[in-house]
Amino acid sequence: MRVTHLSLTDFRNYAEAEVPFGAGPNLIVGRNGQGKTNLVEALGFLSTLSSHRVSQTGAMVRSGEDSAIIRARLEYNGRDILAEVQINRSGLNRAQINKSVIKTRELPRYFSSVLFAPEDLALVRGDPSGRRRFLDQLLVLRNPRFSGVLADYDRVLKQRNTLLKSARASGLKTTQLGTLDIWDERLVALGSEIIDARADLVAQLMPPLHNAYKSVAGADHGPNLVASLSILGADEEADETGSPAVAPPNVGSGSGTADTFRTALAGLRRKELDRGMTLAGPHRDDLVFELNNLPAKGYASHGESWSFALALKLASAELLRRDSSSGDPVLILDDVFAELDQSRRRRLAEAVTGYEQVLITAAVFEDVPAVLAAHAIHIHAGAVVDAPEVESGADHG
Ligand SMILES: Nc1ncnc2c1ncn2[C@@H]1O[C@H](COP(=O)(O)OP(=O)(O)OP(=O)(O)O)[C@@H](O)[C@H]1O
Ligand SMILES: [Mg+2]
Repeated sequence: MRVTHLSLTDFRNYAEAEVPFGAGPNLIVGRNGQGKTNLVEALGFLSTLSSHRVSQTGAMVRSGEDSAIIRARLEYNGRDILAEVQINRSGLNRAQINKSVIKTRELPRYFSSVLFAPEDLALVRGDPSGRRRFLDQLLVLRNPRFSGVLADYDRVLKQRNTLLKSARASGLKTTQLGTLDIWDERLVALGSEIIDARADLVAQLMPPLHNAYKSVAGADHGPNLVASLSILGADEEADETGSPAVAPPNVGSGSGTADTFRTALAGLRRKELDRGMTLAGPHRDDLVFELNNLPAKGYASHGESWSFALALKLASAELLRRDSSSGDPVLILDDVFAELDQSRRRRLAEAVTGYEQVLITAAVFEDVPAVLAAHAIHIHAGAVVDAPEVESGADHG
């Protein structure tokens, strides 16, 4: 698929912007702080309902305004689709497809993109929550129905935690015990589905990850992804240098996972009542990234970590493209090329030129290989301008 046109209203530093995009590579270029990342952030939001930079959507509304609008014209399967979201500083966001109101959470069904940005280094170096979010977002992109499963799990988790907290405060009554059993079953059913889906996703990511890492890094450092599961006793609060609790073969396959989950909850009940929270389940799992059999976090170099995060995104794009009925996801590379040496730039360019559409941002035009720079969009002070020379402060409308 591709974006043919993006319109922004009061989004970040854009009061109004109209940006046409071409098929194939598009290079968004301009000096630091002009609004390049803001443009691609808007598209990322349209496809995931989240920003790669902030968790509070209010930051995306232009300062002094109450709401921002992102509107994109999309083209796939010979169809032309107008997708739109209004981000409100207070109150719920609103979405439309072809001018008809839809539930906002349905929006990602219509637009699939994979965005890589410097912030993604946190996938390798940051907390488990970022890695869980990465997997879950990809699950939803591949199968939109999954957003319901994740939302249901969150709800059950909250209700179970509330019950555990109230039991902690006043002692567990017999009636509450029955209710806890019911929440346990819901938690296990939904949680096992998530654990199994993540395991399946990780298995599918491995081959394209391997290829992408080799093409980005130019060497094979044996990138590996290992699930660390709280239902097997892994504890995200524990010492991070400990070895991960690796899943035995029956976990990650239907009833095996549910049985393991149930057993874990039974073993944790006293501790959960003491702490007033749920201590096992996909909300406390991690995915350990390894290079050459060592955890990347704490061992990998800056360049290796960078290559790993980028390869993971390229692998996601590859998976999405493989089983999509609407063509390739739009590939978005924010500020990638400045970090790479010449040969890595060339290899990355080769790896992405086959995509239907690639959007690249760069502060320095020359950093991007010529094959990706034929169609350039110049950005200056929150506006699309004709040529880079117009940076004198003249009025660009
Ligand atoms: N809500 C907002 N309202 C107004 N301006 C904003 C808002 N959020 C961010 N900005 C401004 O947008 C600009 C940053 O834009 P952006 O991150 O897109 O820059 P960039 O072109 O990607 O720069 P770099 O090359 O440094 O990555 C900053 O000047 C910032 O102050
Ligand atoms: Mg930027």
